[in-house]
Amino acid sequence: MNAAAVTTSPDRAFTEDQHAIWATLYARQASQISQFACREYLDGFDILQLPDDRIPTLEELNAVITPRTGWKMVHTSVRYSDATDWYRHFARREFLITDYMRSWDELEFTPEPDMFHDIFGHLPFFTLPEYAAFQDLFAPAFNRANADQRENIKRLAWYSTEFGLIREQGDLKIFGTGLISSSGEMAHALAGKTPIQEFTVENVLGHDKVIWSFNSALFVADSLDAFRREVMRYIETI
Ligand SMILES: [Fe+2]
Repeated sequence: MNAAAVTTSPDRAFTEDQHAIWATLYARQASQISQFACREYLDGFDILQLPDDRIPTLEELNAVITPRTGWKMVHTSVRYSDATDWYRHFARREFLITDYMRSWDELEFTPEPDMFHDIFGHLPFFTLPEYAAFQDLFAPAFNRANADQRENIKRLAWYSTEFGLIREQGDLKIFGTGLISSSGEMAHALAGKTPIQEFTVENVLGHDKVIWSFNSALFVADSLDAFRREVMRYIETI
């Protein structure tokens, strides 16, 4: 392991080893997404043009994303942000990018979201105004919700933005960023090893979620707009 620091940004420095992990993960997932990811993700991926050999800087990410949707990427040294803090940033259209990078032992799956997940999984979507409008639903609702409703909002976000599936011309495609950035769980889901239900408020809120392992169920919708309408249906009750 080469632990020499390589400065890629005024506010963040990563090691050669961390850049090498990025490059390895990028190579693995880039070969998967063209086949398995949904159209929206692929559109955003073309727009964002992530580097394949190094961790990108926040400056270069924001230069593409902010003019398109108003969202801004902000770095955090917190490994797993508390939901209240997370949604406080979300309400300002700030997306937190952790400095934590998974290790060589966790290439296929990391229970904690790392910077590869945050950047490669989420950020292509944030170049798209229609996706930003979907994300914009969650924070205002969370901020006015009671404790039980907050748990429900987190669950609806988990099974849509993080782990949702979408139908495209009869095929099942990956919408959730947690699946896009995890080759192990992506393969597991698409191999039919995970039970799939329709993404409805009742189905999602009736299901117990696990966070430290592969999901025990996944949820599918017909389109980004179908996810938006279903989440709206719950949010309007708050
Ligand atoms: Fe995520």
